[in-house]
Amino acid sequence: MKVIDAIKSRRSVRTFDGKRLSEEDLSLISACAVSLLNPYDIPIEWKILSAKESGLSSSVIVGTDIFIAGKMKNVPHAEEAFGYSFEKIVLYAESIGIGTTWIAGTMNRAAFERAIELGEDEVMPCVSPLGYPAKKMSVREAVMRKGVKADVRFDFGDLFFKESFSTPLNSAAAGELGTALEMVRLAPSAVNKQPWRLVVDGDTVHFYEKRSKGYVKDNGWDLQKIDIGIAMCHFASTIEESGKSVELSLNDPGIDLPTDTLYIASLNIK
Ligand SMILES: Cc1cc2nc3c(=O)[nH]c(=O)nc-3n(C[C@H](O)[C@H](O)[C@H](O)COP(=O)(O)O)c2cc1C
Repeated sequence: MKVIDAIKSRRSVRTFDGKRLSEEDLSLISACAVSLLNPYDIPIEWKILSAKESGLSSSVIVGTDIFIAGKMKNVPHAEEAFGYSFEKIVLYAESIGIGTTWIAGTMNRAAFERAIELGEDEVMPCVSPLGYPAKKMSVREAVMRKGVKADVRFDFGDLFFKESFSTPLNSAAAGELGTALEMVRLAPSAVNKQPWRLVVDGDTVHFYEKRSKGYVKDNGWDLQKIDIGIAMCHFASTIEESGKSVELSLNDPGIDLPTDTLYIASLNIK
């Protein structure tokens, strides 16, 4: 399956059909996870966990016993790196018929952190169930999707700009970058806030976070930076599929910023 097809067909799956994940599918997911690199070169350790064996639960997930979780050192850019890598797993899972849901909040976190043997200097940002999607969503899942308007995304021109934040970009004017930007638009985000804002300048695309209130912890941990990592993953994966490559740089171009907006990173297309 092409990455753009996986991006288009993916949705959060919270209701699974109760069938055990096959050993073959489990090995495919594990192999994908261990092979992953992120542009920040921050190592992430992945673990497949059994809910029954480790006493794990998520109030929103039914019909599967298997979860994947990742842990890493709590270093600068951990959030973006995690978002980038975990979304690679999510898209790979989608391409082989396995459903996932990013979960940062609705789980018994302490049990997950025990199961993954989290160290003092480490973080376990998110987990996801792995399983085969049920034909019908649970009522709870349907209500939840409505609550966060999960099927809706902001318009192209609300998210993407040319050279500065004063010139919105429409998809026709985006030219060759149109598909990669559209794939960013479709990405999943915490509470579907879609905090990514991108400014295109020639072959360089600057990624910004439009911060919503209440997502930054006292210690500086910023859940919405994970969303920006996901956006970078969709952008880079789409460009790479078209035969080009991207390179990360962290040089803030100093563009005038709207309120609550901060520079995260740039991707240069080669
Ligand atoms: C970083 C992150 C954290 C999330 N945390 C949760 C969560 O704790 N519980 C949950 O049910 N969904 C969670 N989600 C899923 C989002 O609600 C979902 O991606 C969004 O509503 C868009 O819906 P879609 O994934 O079906 O496109 C999270 C998503 C992301 C990216």
